[in-house]
Amino acid sequence: MTIQWFPGHMTRARRQIQEKLKLIDVVIELLDARLPLSSRNPMIDEILQGKPRLIVLNKADLADPAVTRQWIAFFKQEGHTAVEADASSGRGIKEIPQLAKELLKDKIEKQLAKGINPRAVRALIVGIPNVGKSTLINRLAGKSIAATGDRPGVTKGQQWIKVGTEMELLDTPGILWPKFEDQNVGYRLAVTGAIREEILNAEDIAFFAVKYLARYYWEPFKDRFELEQPPGDFEDPDEIVAIMEAVGRKRGCLQSGGRVDLEKASKILLRELRAGKMGRYSLEEPNV
Ligand code: G4P
Repeated sequence: MTIQWFPGHMTRARRQIQEKLKLIDVVIELLDARLPLSSRNPMIDEILQGKPRLIVLNKADLADPAVTRQWIAFFKQEGHTAVEADASSGRGIKEIPQLAKELLKDKIEKQLAKGINPRAVRALIVGIPNVGKSTLINRLAGKSIAATGDRPGVTKGQQWIKVGTEMELLDTPGILWPKFEDQNVGYRLAVTGAIREEILNAEDIAFFAVKYLARYYWEPFKDRFELEQPPGDFEDPDEIVAIMEAVGRKRGCLQSGGRVDLEKASKILLRELRAGKMGRYSLEEPNV
């Protein structure tokens, strides 16, 4: 579900997460492995107020594995523990409770030294809409209990979900907003379908995608649409549009007079890209 975020929504979302922080020991920050920074909340450090945090790069099944490894190294350099996962298949999920517990190692050791038996680690999942929060909660819970309620301001009775004996999870995730001010962030999110085409125009999103794919994933892109030549100049809009037209011709998107219906071609291209038909791709790389 796509949310229109307004300053009031953001304030409320932030307040709701900060209320929940009082109840928990550790935050699981869910990012999209294909675009970890663009799917990250711009105020996350401020919002979490130093709460221990495990970063989970979700949808890693769709991302370029080599780039995901770079991102994990990047977040480690930032001082965080980061892991990759696919909430939908369950890969990488069972390690999460143990990793969360390790973040609290010092606290747990102190408790043990005092003869206190530590309770299960209490966790909260946070992330922007569509990043996979509900899917992850359901996976960790082992059954479908988390309702997808992506409306800011909706409060429900909260419950703890038991994840084995090691962890308890709040059943409602914290919903955060992405960094809207940066236009490229909006485009990256839109390419993955996290922002709908009603908000950004399909042709503009496809233009952005083609420019990126032509530069970084030419081989699978070329093979999918039987394209001939990569652009000579990636910054030349005419060359990018020519590729979009070639895609349209390949998919039979022709108007009367033989002109390519660019909007239709753009929608098809985005649909195929999102469905993984062009293979795995990442939309940003860390500068490490
Ligand atoms: P949210 O609570 O953060 O808003 O996200 P949600 O769990 O609803 O997941 C958003 C979409 O992302 C869902 O697809 C979900 O299946 C998909 N998804 C979640 N985790 C993964 C993952 O690790 N890999 C892949 N490939 N997809 C993932 P949808 O199209 O909205 O619904 P559906 O296709 O499941 O019906």
